[in-house]
Amino acid sequence: MTAPTIGAALRAATARLSAAGIADPGRDARLLLAHAANIPADRLRLHEDEPFEAESRLDILLGDRLRHKPVAMILGARDFWGRRFRVTPDTLVPRPETETLIEAALSIGFDRLLDLGTGSGVIAVTLLAEQSSATGLATDLSGAALAVARQNADAAGLGTRLRCRRSDWYEEVTGRFDLIVSNPPYIGRAELAGLAPDVRDWDPPMALCPGEDALGAYRAICAGAQAHLTADGVLMVEIGASQGAQVAQLFQAAGFVDIQTIPDLDGRDRVIYGRNPPL
Ligand SMILES: C[S@@+](CC[C@H](N)C(=O)[O-])C[C@H]1O[C@@H](n2cnc3c(N)ncnc32)[C@H](O)[C@@H]1O
Repeated sequence: MTAPTIGAALRAATARLSAAGIADPGRDARLLLAHAANIPADRLRLHEDEPFEAESRLDILLGDRLRHKPVAMILGARDFWGRRFRVTPDTLVPRPETETLIEAALSIGFDRLLDLGTGSGVIAVTLLAEQSSATGLATDLSGAALAVARQNADAAGLGTRLRCRRSDWYEEVTGRFDLIVSNPPYIGRAELAGLAPDVRDWDPPMALCPGEDALGAYRAICAGAQAHLTADGVLMVEIGASQGAQVAQLFQAAGFVDIQTIPDLDGRDRVIYGRNPPL
């Protein structure tokens, strides 16, 4: 049997994903086919009329996607802020919304960074790569996620500028930092069933859900922050879009000043910022 052209294979793959209700079938088909054919995704058009010889490989990738496995997990990588990050079933797939926290953190500057719940390391690695004079500590309760964060830090050439440590929030953290950041789990157990299957069935449960109380991780992070911040240091957390008022209240109760809510590009509340009062 003659192989279809790359263009025809792409149309067929898009139609399969579309028929199964996958949200962005054209984009996903392009990425998966490019991966199967070993061609950069932004070059596919140049190869459209060539024969596609990797049909069985693509079939396996499409099978994964039809089971709602996120493309980043299928490919094992996700691009974020101009860098490629390794992603595994032990790490949350980095989200574009997290760019809001990155932008806010870079705008204030910092020397010593603490990233709580680092996952793939996307926040700590991006911030230290962008601010070359800074050093940092990245923690996670998941040793498997931390191993991925370490690989991503090494790939970005951070070396000893970023240390990675297994810790339940602040438990194994010593010293003070002028910036603490976190994108903690913030989905209550009762809400898990209502999530899209790409998230619910594939992102690691401990990256999504802190337990019954959706705000549980924010309570722990706010409660321990001042003992680990310098005077005038900043705590910045990513939040679920409906949690702005509640998390801002936790910041207030913990004694933070200059509390601000920062929206993402879609105008939804995304980051809460607070400053430790000066001495
Ligand atoms: C929403 S994910 C964020 C991952 C990464 N920072 C990002 O933005 O893509 C939350 C992370 O917190 C970690 N985590 C959950 N509970 C924790 C705890 N008690 N202490 C430290 N990390 C925890 C999870 O393993 C997960 O990697």
